Amino acid sequence: MRNILVTGGAGFIGSHLVRLLVNKYPDYTIVNLDNLTYAGNLANLKEVEGKANYRFVKADICNYEKMQQVFAEYQITGVIHLAAESHVDRSITDPFVFAKTNVIGTLTLLQAAKEYWKNDMNGKLFYHVSTDEVYGSLDHGGFFFETTPYDPKSPYSASKAGSDHFVRAFHNTYKLPVVISNCSNNYGPYQFPEKLIPLFINNIRHNKPLPVYGKGENVRDWLYVEDHARAIDLIFHKGKVGDTYNIGGFNEWKNIDLIRVMIKVTDRLLGRPEGESEKLITYVTDRAGHDLRYAIDSTKLHKELGWLPSLQFEEGIEKTIRWYLDNQVWMDNVTSGDYQKYYEQMYTNR
Ligand code: NAD
Ligand code: TYD
Repeated sequence: MRNILVTGGAGFIGSHLVRLLVNKYPDYTIVNLDNLTYAGNLANLKEVEGKANYRFVKADICNYEKMQQVFAEYQITGVIHLAAESHVDRSITDPFVFAKTNVIGTLTLLQAAKEYWKNDMNGKLFYHVSTDEVYGSLDHGGFFFETTPYDPKSPYSASKAGSDHFVRAFHNTYKLPVVISNCSNNYGPYQFPEKLIPLFINNIRHNKPLPVYGKGENVRDWLYVEDHARAIDLIFHKGKVGDTYNIGGFNEWKNIDLIRVMIKVTDRLLGRPEGESEKLITYVTDRAGHDLRYAIDSTKLHKELGWLPSLQFEEGIEKTIRWYLDNQVWMDNVTSGDYQKYYEQMYTNR
């Protein structure tokens, strides 16, 4: 029997992970802890909310007493920590909340785990989910390896790097059993439409401008979110304690090329003449300090644990676009209220 605390389970990646774990491990209790920020949405978890092995706790990971209480109440034996502020543009506007949630929140959880497990660390594991952005930005060649020195460039990546350092420090200092993975950009259903792919699909649908930062030449390495969730499950169960695993699909796309593929597929699915929405492409002021390129080498994960992405990108992006078009109610719900304000602040006069 295992009682696993998943933090940030109402967010994009967390909801896919919770769904996978709840369905795959009926003998585990999966405790989803999330304070439901703008990015957290329980509608993402409708499919599992009635299951006997699923619990939801609304709480802030920065609240130490509450974390102690949750560890004790649910007799937590493993943590998979995803709760975070996750959007680079927001970190440029308000870096403080990133330091608070990502650094202090992670430290708070580490301390709660260490205290609760201090008499018996056997069979316990604190799994920290991180990003490839901690490695900084690549030029046109090379990859990020597990051994690449940290060189974060945005307030978001700096806060994630800080949290990774605390996780390793707890392993080194207190022998807390930890594992870390650093993943490339994810795409798929349930991603909040502030990120490139869902934002652009929604804008194409509504004939709204597609705000391409700079010249659209930045490169990202895209992985289908369910493949990330499978990797987390594998590393949680089979990964070596104290190790780091890079996760990525060897699937690099220049933004503008990816945008053209999205336009082509979305137009086709909407029954529009192919390429009609190209006219929506609007080049806007670049993101401050915009990282040029991310590219993950995930050979270690493949060689040691046998993980490979299951979906080809062409299949994954079509599946994703179809999902957003078919789930307009979900999109309407998450884009009502504060989203409008966010959109205006971020994109007006850019
Ligand atoms: P997300 O923004 O969609 O979800 C974050 C979740 O954390 C939300 O449900 C939110 O309510 C919750 N949360 C935020 N602050 C909290 C707090 N103080 N207490 C409790 N819950 C809180 O993020 P995501 O894209 O699903 O990313 C999840 C994790 O994976 C993050 O740690 C992120 O750094 C990492 N990651 C994301 C990507 C990506 O492409 N999205 C890639 C690699 C790694
Ligand atoms: P994003 O989805 O925010 O992920 P990240 O910055 O963490 O990689 O952005 C992906 C890429 O798309 C990034 O190079 C910035 C660019 N981008 C735009 O050109 N326009 C936009 O409106 C957004 C949100 C992103």
